[in-house]
Amino acid sequence: MGNREALLAKIAGLDAEHAKALAGGGPKYVERHHKRGKLLARERVELLIDEDSPFLELSPLAAWGTDFPVGASVVTGIGRIEGVECVIVANDPTVRGGSSNPYTLRKSLRANDIALQNRLPLVSLVESGGADLPTQSEIFIPGGRAFRDLTRLSAAGIPTITAVFGNATAGGAYVPGMSDYVIMIKDRSKVFLGGPPLVKMATGEDSDDESLGGATMHGVTSGLADFVAEDETDAIRLARRVVARLNWRKLGPEPAPVEEPLFDAESILDIVSEDQRVPFDPRDVIARLVDGSHFDEFKPLYGNSLVTGWARIHGYPVGILANARGVLFSEESQKATQFIQLANSSDTPLVFLQNTTGYMVGAQYEQGGIVKHGSMMINAVSNSRVPHLTITMGASYGAGNYGMCGRAYDPRFLFTWPNAKSAVMGPAQLAGVLSIVGRQAAAAKGQEYNEEHDAAMRKMVEAQIEEQSLAPFLSGKLYDDGVIDPRDTRTVLALCLSAVHSGPIKGADGFGVFRM
Ligand code: COA
Repeated sequence: MGNREALLAKIAGLDAEHAKALAGGGPKYVERHHKRGKLLARERVELLIDEDSPFLELSPLAAWGTDFPVGASVVTGIGRIEGVECVIVANDPTVRGGSSNPYTLRKSLRANDIALQNRLPLVSLVESGGADLPTQSEIFIPGGRAFRDLTRLSAAGIPTITAVFGNATAGGAYVPGMSDYVIMIKDRSKVFLGGPPLVKMATGEDSDDESLGGATMHGVTSGLADFVAEDETDAIRLARRVVARLNWRKLGPEPAPVEEPLFDAESILDIVSEDQRVPFDPRDVIARLVDGSHFDEFKPLYGNSLVTGWARIHGYPVGILANARGVLFSEESQKATQFIQLANSSDTPLVFLQNTTGYMVGAQYEQGGIVKHGSMMINAVSNSRVPHLTITMGASYGAGNYGMCGRAYDPRFLFTWPNAKSAVMGPAQLAGVLSIVGRQAAAAKGQEYNEEHDAAMRKMVEAQIEEQSLAPFLSGKLYDDGVIDPRDTRTVLALCLSAVHSGPIKGADGFGVFRM
């Protein structure tokens, strides 16, 4: 199979997984929801954002490979409302009543982080059965952060707007409770700490949904609702009016006019090697991502298994670091460190294009200071303050994942291509290391090593590590913000750059101590 065919097959596989998220709770629950005269989560989002504007959906594969439905019963993403980019979080009530399982929580908290880090208003479209009761032990205590985040956003001057489409009870009541603006819907919204049965148990009082937590009660009597909408579309209209009146201004610099690349994005599919061991030149990818395909390479003659340079994407200036031949040596680490410092001194966001098998091992390289130099690069990535965007284009192994701004290094956004793989090391290497360690342990005890067991162990470990290295598995665990078609990379990066420019763009004033 050629590169193109191999990648197209992976993209088709990805589409099939995305379809699972789009299906929500499946036909039975979707039909029931529509019959009740209600809109689906994605329909609500579509009406909320500006007509024909893009919605950058985040983590659609959350919970992939777990017992929970793909998508984790919530839709999150960035969309434009009255010209303002906002983070939108919409419960999917067709999936187990929209209740929150551990992956729902991770996905929602990630959305809150994105709102805070990038200074984006947060709009919540709430309809949820609260905690997924069978897994409450994993979400009840950490889940408190969801409410804390709302008020911290507000304290940071980032508006929070909640529209309640149905149930928001118990802990869920604190979503409207902690939001700046609250919209409820007549005869639909239910917001109370305890429903009628719980109240009866607790105090013996007889009550009903409306008097405990209906929209009219909250609009007229308790004052928790700022607006009472006639129906769902009216609630969405009101949410749009609230955003329109925020007088929101972005704080980042304006982009320059956009220039299309000279090369078609389609041809990215021919460039990316089917076999991860065959390197490809990231300059060929960069030429398809950046404005006018103009790339001013920095230090092109030095440390050439890492490409660094300046460009623009949809008018936004960026510095790009891209792995060329997989392995990072001391020279590449020093070059990256200098480049990251330069980007910070010119307040330029950084894009990391990962395709690395990690830092070079071996006596020659250890003696040359690979630990020091790799640490330098990781220090620079850790303490850099300009926004980072990461794309995993292929391999992301070992500490290369850290140095090239993997998830733990807080890139503002991280997207993965469907061919990408990430693990502490490759499956064959990992199984081989276990085999050597086992062999040495047996020798130390004077025992004979069982070759048959060894072969079976290697096979099993290799298969397990391979499966856990794949893009959907990693995305399911929320180790990225989504798996994307490589041909969409320029558009996705542009949407992210526009979002990060909602906040100020400012480099670091200092770094930790660099070991020289
Ligand atoms: N945890 C786990 N599963 C839940 C759930 C929860 N909190 N809430 C609903 N579900 C499940 C239901 O068991 C049902 O599963 P099934 O179809 O396999 O039987 C499915 O989700 C749909 O629920 P259903 O009650 O049919 O949907 P609905 O739209 O008529 O009502 C709610 C939705 C949320 C109003 C209702 O399910 C409810 O009151 N749930 C419990 C709410 C609660 O007390 N949560 C605890 C708060 S901390």
